[in-house]
Amino acid sequence: MRKINIAIDGPAGAGKSTVSKGCAVQLDYTYIDTGAMYRALSLKALRTGTPLDDGEKMTELLKSTSIRLVGNPKVSEVYLDEENVSEAIRTSEVDSVVSLTAAHLGVREEMAVKQRRLAAEKSAVLDGRDIGTTILPDAELKIFLIASVQERALRRYKEMQERGKPADYEEIYEAIIHRDELDKAREHSPLKKAADAVEIDTTVLTVPEVISKITALAEEKVNQS
Ligand code: DC
Repeated sequence: MRKINIAIDGPAGAGKSTVSKGCAVQLDYTYIDTGAMYRALSLKALRTGTPLDDGEKMTELLKSTSIRLVGNPKVSEVYLDEENVSEAIRTSEVDSVVSLTAAHLGVREEMAVKQRRLAAEKSAVLDGRDIGTTILPDAELKIFLIASVQERALRRYKEMQERGKPADYEEIYEAIIHRDELDKAREHSPLKKAADAVEIDTTVLTVPEVISKITALAEEKVNQS
């Protein structure tokens, strides 16, 4: 069967991780959560007191750090220097600084090498911001997921409540707008729809509906010779 890569980009809370995992499970592809890699590096910087706004120091830190994505798409875990940080990278503290980490060219270049290596192994679904534009500009299928800010904030709010974490809707709403602005405005590989990406608005679609749209497009690509 033809090996393909699916790039799933879009802003925070558009449903990328749920949809990407679902597609990977259904298609039996590798799931690569690139945001988790930036989160893991941010966590290490917070723990070691590394200034997150210093690109050189952050790039050095990444070079001496092991970040591994482990497992099948259903249980995808992130290891930072062999410690399972899958939960620890999903705090609002990490949320609030991760855009700083992701802004540095040196960091992005190092991450790109790791991500391309993972994507080369077998068919994969990569979830991120710059997959279709920068990491894999030749990806066979590119999806750009969007949803209204209200819907994205509501999803994040419910997710935090389910995890038993304190959640304030207004705060989450403002944080999403702020993070979108930083991700779109940054100089290096900003959040941007690739010209050849298929845009899907998930505001009023269910998760299974979005997954089936994408897997149908993937199957078309696999069957193209
Ligand atoms: O998808 P996420 O919320 O876990 O991503 C965390 C941050 O990392 C987000 O603010 C943008 C950044 N990111 C990026 O710049 N490029 C990627 N490919 C993935 C994430």
